[in-house]
Amino acid sequence: MTGKTRVICFANNKGGSGKSTTCSNVGYGLTQLGRKVLLIDGDMQLNLSLSLFDEDTVLGFAQGEKNLYEGIRRQDDLKDYIVHTGYENLDLIPSSTLMSSIEYELFTKWQREYILKKGLKSILESGAYDYVLIDAPPTLGGWVVNILCASDEIIIPVEASPWGLFGLGNMFEFLEQVKEIAPDLKLGGIVITKVDTRKNYFKQTLETLRELDDVRVFDTYIRVDSGVEWSQDNNAPVMAYRKSSRSAKEYMELTKEIDAAGAVS
Ligand SMILES: Nc1ncnc2c1ncn2[C@@H]1O[C@H](COP(=O)(O)OP(=O)(O)OP(=O)(O)O)[C@@H](O)[C@H]1O
Ligand SMILES: [Mg+2]
Repeated sequence: MTGKTRVICFANNKGGSGKSTTCSNVGYGLTQLGRKVLLIDGDMQLNLSLSLFDEDTVLGFAQGEKNLYEGIRRQDDLKDYIVHTGYENLDLIPSSTLMSSIEYELFTKWQREYILKKGLKSILESGAYDYVLIDAPPTLGGWVVNILCASDEIIIPVEASPWGLFGLGNMFEFLEQVKEIAPDLKLGGIVITKVDTRKNYFKQTLETLRELDDVRVFDTYIRVDSGVEWSQDNNAPVMAYRKSSRSAKEYMELTKEIDAAGAVS
């Protein structure tokens, strides 16, 4: 243990920008640095859960009671929803397809923005983890507000594409609003994903992002690599499935940057 648990969410309204892949690999990477990590799958697509368990197991969690939706709906202590993965020091709170109705569940609750934060309280107080990493869905509703209110930092994975950059503008506006109710929330940084270095557009994206004031862009970017898809097909983080692959090495570098970083803005 290194002191206070850092709670980091991976969020971006833009779909397919690499949130789940980054959350899973940074989570696994941190365990390789000797950290204890709890992953939380906040998305009904179950992608983070599927990056650690096979489909039958994930559907079992989703249809049973051991999932985030049940924990939030009942406003329980979320420590009772933790499952151990096959990897040392890596635990998960799985998701459920019923997360599609989470907005409705929240709507009826008192102080609805803070339900996730309250559910995590005893886990954080126990000091059992160095990191809690939350995978957010590609939406900007009340549930993502919950995720942001429960987090110390947000990391935004951005795909190097024109619409990827456009979406980032929306994301910044949303964050400004959320900061009114989560004033301590920091922007941990932007990570550029799914990069095809042969395309000039990537270089322009990088320049545009590096010009932004007070926004950290991680030095490491993640290139397109078929190893990512193979690892997902095999329900494993690429760093565990193909340790020598390009993306595994890049994710390890990114993990070290994140571990070393304090939030900057
Ligand atoms: N470095 C990479 N190389 C190749 N494919 C990648 C890479 N990173 C992600 N992908 C693929 O891109 C797709 C989107 O990635 P991912 O699911 O991580 O994004 P997401 O932001 O979580 O998506 P969503 O918004 O739907 O939750 C997936 O099919 C994944 O396999
Ligand atoms: Mg995802």
